[in-house]
Amino acid sequence: MYKICVFASGRGSNLKAVWEYVNSSSLDIEIYCVVSDKTECGALEFAEGKGIKTVSVSGKARNGFLTYDDLIVEFKTNKIDLIVLAGFLKKIPDNFIDAFPERIINIHPALLPLFGGKGMYGMNVHKAVYNSGMKVSGVTIHFVDKIYDHGKIIAQKCVDISNARSPEEIAGLVLRQEHKLLPEIIGKFAESKVKIDNSKVYII
Ligand code: GRF
Repeated sequence: MYKICVFASGRGSNLKAVWEYVNSSSLDIEIYCVVSDKTECGALEFAEGKGIKTVSVSGKARNGFLTYDDLIVEFKTNKIDLIVLAGFLKKIPDNFIDAFPERIINIHPALLPLFGGKGMYGMNVHKAVYNSGMKVSGVTIHFVDKIYDHGKIIAQKCVDISNARSPEEIAGLVLRQEHKLLPEIIGKFAESKVKIDNSKVYII
């Protein structure tokens, strides 16, 4: 059993894509829990509807929230294999990242290292891409390190945006590819097909 946890702050469409993949795949993958920095959002609602355990996390202990330190204990005790950030908007504390080296991945809706970094999330990304006049955008899946959108790139997919007339249109085109690439890469992790060699990541 390959156990993953999905972190999300918003609508949860990538979580849904991952759930659909996990449920139709022959690989033995379990979404152990869904973590959010909110108490209400589309991702939590989706998880609750599917009977997946949900957790709200915060830097400080407050009503109904676990701390990141609590999560480290919980994930280590339950042998979580992979932590997937899918639209999670809060910065993850350094000690949490240190606790799971090369086990935390993020999906970013553009081709890093372009259009990343602090403040580059949601529509901000697509507006910047639109204003740049670039004809391609895409999806990046990368390891999470202590700097926003900076860890080693695992996989990318280009998206032709030459006919896109607005940032919203770019967002839609990119999101469609996110829903394909993220489950595919989770599958590669579950099959131990993601290898790091000389600080580059290869899918074998
Ligand atoms: C996606 O575009 C993802 O790349 C970004 O945040 C968005 C989350 O969308 N990090 P959803 O909540 O999965 O629908």
